[in-house]
Amino acid sequence: MALTLATATDTPRWRSAALTYARSVSGTGGERAGPSGPAGEAGERPAGASEGAGPRLHVVSGKGGTGKTTVAAALALALAERGRRTLLVEVEGRQGIAQLFETQALPYEERRIAIGPGGGEVFALAIDPEQALLDYLQMFYKLGSAGRALRRIGAIDFATTVAPGLRDVLLTGKACEAVRRRGADGERAYDAVVMDAPPTGRITRFLGVNHEVAGLARVGPVHHQAQAVMRVLTSAETAVHLVTLLEEMPVQETADGVAELRAAGLPVGSVLVNMVGPARRAAHPAGERALARALAGAGLPDAEALAAPLLAQGREHAQRLALEERRRAELAGLGPPVHELPLLPEGVDLAGLYRLARLLRDLEW
Ligand SMILES: Nc1ncnc2c1ncn2[C@@H]1O[C@H](COP(=O)(O)OP(=O)(O)OP(=O)(O)O)[C@@H](O)[C@H]1O
Ligand SMILES: [Mg+2]
Repeated sequence: MALTLATATDTPRWRSAALTYARSVSGTGGERAGPSGPAGEAGERPAGASEGAGPRLHVVSGKGGTGKTTVAAALALALAERGRRTLLVEVEGRQGIAQLFETQALPYEERRIAIGPGGGEVFALAIDPEQALLDYLQMFYKLGSAGRALRRIGAIDFATTVAPGLRDVLLTGKACEAVRRRGADGERAYDAVVMDAPPTGRITRFLGVNHEVAGLARVGPVHHQAQAVMRVLTSAETAVHLVTLLEEMPVQETADGVAELRAAGLPVGSVLVNMVGPARRAAHPAGERALARALAGAGLPDAEALAAPLLAQGREHAQRLALEERRRAELAGLGPPVHELPLLPEGVDLAGLYRLARLLRDLEW
């Protein structure tokens, strides 16, 4: 196995203090530290330093239950296997990543959860909207202890649960901050950030929320921050991937999702067809009599009685395959590249996750 798991207690020493929205996003004061050390000025990367081409923020969406969390984790591993440092971000407070990596619940800090041979590493972060709001208030309004007091009286909890738009601003802002963050040496803190994102039905609104905010706050740091986040999300630095199944509803949602994302000017990456079963196409026997003869020839008792139900099953299977082919064609017609991932019969344990990662590793990202 190419990747090894880091220990659950492998907490980075550089864990930052309060200011999580760094200059790199907001253009205002921030002292966010990252894996390469304390944050430096944006744009101070030394000439000649390698800057990976292609998207650096991979947003993984899709219909509920199609495998968003699984695919996001496998993609983070795949990118790390190429010797890159990746951050896997969870925004729905479900601790799906911790479960997948069989580790303790993730706190609101970047924690290494897997390492790769070429120096590649996967860090994970479960973004806590409450904590992110405190950071935000601290950055824009310098509300250090006042912010904590707000939390004590429940105002922070109130704000993050009652105003879903605000919650989304905080979550997308935090992810973009990680994308743009640089260490004191000017190097990117992360080569890639992979987000286990909300489902297709909410993804366009979720990613577009800063557009509305930038319109509401027409000037000042909040406007500036919202614009900076939208710049990342609408640029070639971002790719929104949609996970689907070869089933009617997920394929329809994928088609709707691609159209909505495009209409909102958000960059669509790939369509990932998950849980694809083996395409065993049974040789078609001539009919019931021929099948019965073949079964009897193979020494099976009651060959006559077996032939009809077996044929019915075969027909059903052939119909399902034909439907799947139609759905494949529909997905291919959407435009973005389509990749398939197999159904793992034993379910997704760690070994299965790495298997999916190996399949993703060789694709164009
Ligand atoms: N390729 C696969 N083969 C077999 N099982 C899979 C595969 N991908 C995902 N699963 C299983 O399907 C279930 C749903 O996967 P996952 O939790 O990743 O989906 P999700 O889209 O994140 O769901 P939710 O909408 O609830 O967040 C899990 O039990 C997972 O282990
Ligand atoms: Mg999930």
